[in-house]
Amino acid sequence: MSVKREHWGSRLGFIMATAGSAVGLGNIWKFPYMAGDNGGAAFIIIYLALVFTIGLSVLLAEIMIGRASQSDAVNAFKKLGPSGFSIVGYMGIAAAFMILSFYSVVAGWTIAYIVKFASGSFVGMDAASLGGAFGAFISNPVQPIIYEAIFVAMTVFVVLGGIANGIERAGKILMPILFLILIALVVRAVTLPGAEKGLEFFLAPDFSKLTGSSVMAALGQAFFSLSLGMGAILTYGSYLGKDANIGKSAWQVAFLDTSVAILAGLAIFPAVFAFNMDPGAGPGLTFVTLPAVFDAMPGGLIFGTLFFVLLTIAALTSSISLLEPLVAFFSTKGFSRAQVTMTSGFLAFLLGIPCSMAMGDWGEFKIFGKNFFDLMDFLSSNLILPIGGFLIAIFVGWVITPRALQEVSGTGEPGLLAKLWIFILRFIAPIAIAAILINGLR
Ligand code: PFF
Repeated sequence: MSVKREHWGSRLGFIMATAGSAVGLGNIWKFPYMAGDNGGAAFIIIYLALVFTIGLSVLLAEIMIGRASQSDAVNAFKKLGPSGFSIVGYMGIAAAFMILSFYSVVAGWTIAYIVKFASGSFVGMDAASLGGAFGAFISNPVQPIIYEAIFVAMTVFVVLGGIANGIERAGKILMPILFLILIALVVRAVTLPGAEKGLEFFLAPDFSKLTGSSVMAALGQAFFSLSLGMGAILTYGSYLGKDANIGKSAWQVAFLDTSVAILAGLAIFPAVFAFNMDPGAGPGLTFVTLPAVFDAMPGGLIFGTLFFVLLTIAALTSSISLLEPLVAFFSTKGFSRAQVTMTSGFLAFLLGIPCSMAMGDWGEFKIFGKNFFDLMDFLSSNLILPIGGFLIAIFVGWVITPRALQEVSGTGEPGLLAKLWIFILRFIAPIAIAAILINGLR
């Protein structure tokens, strides 16, 4: 029995959905800090170079495999080449569950912070008391899990709608809103008195801070940020028709993703420095320092609320793309979209509970020296995504090369760019990815 595969309503819809996958928590909370800490513009230049060579090549490879096979991540490899490569699809399924679990916990925090900001409960608090409030909130055994459930339910709701009426529509509505909010935040931040110091921290090139490990970190971040290596983009590509220009689409997605990462830095650091706050890393920057910054600025209640709306939107359009590969695969086993979407969502929610509890009572429970949250992050981001990306590069660069060239060039002769693409997938990407893999395991 074969049911006609659903397709995107338009190429723009595909771009918005795929950019939605790429633009996520990784762009807004991780990239800006990494750049600031690793030599500003020097890091950004390296990051851009990696995104537009290796990142873009693997991105196009995934879209191509999806489009050519019109199949989910497991069956795509079986259809196009030796079936052993379907291991990429199976690992992708595992990674999707793992990333969904911890991602949904953090996304739950962002929803909670919309509520807390908008209701004015942070008014008048300084960074120290905000830090205490954040610690108390995430270590609570009940509240964050309720917010996690709300976030997973939102994800399930969109995916239940299917490709054109669910995922595509969400992308077309949410991505423009995300851009508008981000631009409003950038304008607010750079017009604050004292903003220049933040621009300097984020942008002034300092090549002395650029080390081998910061280059590795840049490549790892490029991979995570473009949602590569686990079949999410492949699955989105499988809903494209034969006539779509996939080279151009891949380029546009990479461009949008990188623009958001850089704009996020321009929204964050000028504001942090204008109020003489500490640009420290990770969750602390997002959930402690920035709330304090917003509290101190004129119009902070609105801008603070908008910032957490921005994060929630970014997370939602990414989590949709984590759930859809699961749905695409399990639907081939004879279950309906509704059954698979709800079951997978529920399982991911359950896996999120120990991630959330790791912030509190279960924090002492360690596997390989990591709490459950960090373990899920490590296994997926540092292990499965690079291995998946490596195998995808080998698959397209060495195994199905003629078919791949035909997919990107249509009936014409493959041009210079297509040949360059294959060259990168053959030699450069596998070596570079093997290097991040080894580095990430140390
Ligand atoms: N690209 C997302 C981010 O930058 O936050 C994370 C992500 C989404 C990774 C979907 C992988 C994926 F399949």
